[in-house]
Amino acid sequence: MEELALHILDLVQNSLAAGATEVVIEIKEDAAGDLLIITIKDNGSGMDQEFVRRVLDPFTTTRTTRRVGLGLSLLAMAARQAGGDVQISSEKGKGTTVTATFGLRHWDRPPLGDVPATLVTVLAGAPKLDLIYRHTVDDRTFTFCTREVRRELGEVPINDPKVLTFLKRYLQEALTSLHGGGGVDEA
Ligand SMILES: Nc1ncnc2c1ncn2[C@@H]1O[C@H](COP(=O)(O)OP(=O)(O)OP(=O)(O)O)[C@@H](O)[C@H]1O
Ligand SMILES: [Mg+2]
Repeated sequence: MEELALHILDLVQNSLAAGATEVVIEIKEDAAGDLLIITIKDNGSGMDQEFVRRVLDPFTTTRTTRRVGLGLSLLAMAARQAGGDVQISSEKGKGTTVTATFGLRHWDRPPLGDVPATLVTVLAGAPKLDLIYRHTVDDRTFTFCTREVRRELGEVPINDPKVLTFLKRYLQEALTSLHGGGGVDEA
């Protein structure tokens, strides 16, 4: 996968498959530390410790449609190629936190890609999900929270096509100004 946004989409699909009703997506771009950190935290069914130890292996999956589960192993490969790694902490019945780190300026770090498109795709398919998205660039933070959006929307569903179009544009503008307003996504 050439974009980190697609890995994020895959991680959120894992959370939804585990029955999560709340997912927190956190992205931190830290120029001083030369670090990009992506954290996905959910309140889904979790995994036991023995399973967590094996989960980065592509042959570990609870899928019934095929024998390989590639999401986490591909993410780990991408992170390690960019001077980082993946950490998973999980508790059965409580939830899971996946943390992926990358060298921010590492030559082999995939671009972040279209994060607004990923978020809107998630909301289109899971309109009831409590999604919190927090994106920090150095000392600036943007937070998006579907609970607040739903309060504003009242009766209108969050996956109404017009709402999704609006949200995508809103998120794109927020990220542009977070990155300094010049529309520069990647260094
Ligand atoms: N957030 C999560 N909560 C609970 N279990 C998870 C979570 N993420 C992954 N798992 C477990 O780990 C397995 C491997 O996940 P991984 O994303 O690597 O592959 P997959 O989802 O099975 O298949 P693919 O990502 O290729 O569609 C999953 O089948 C699931 O059992
Ligand atoms: Mg997966």
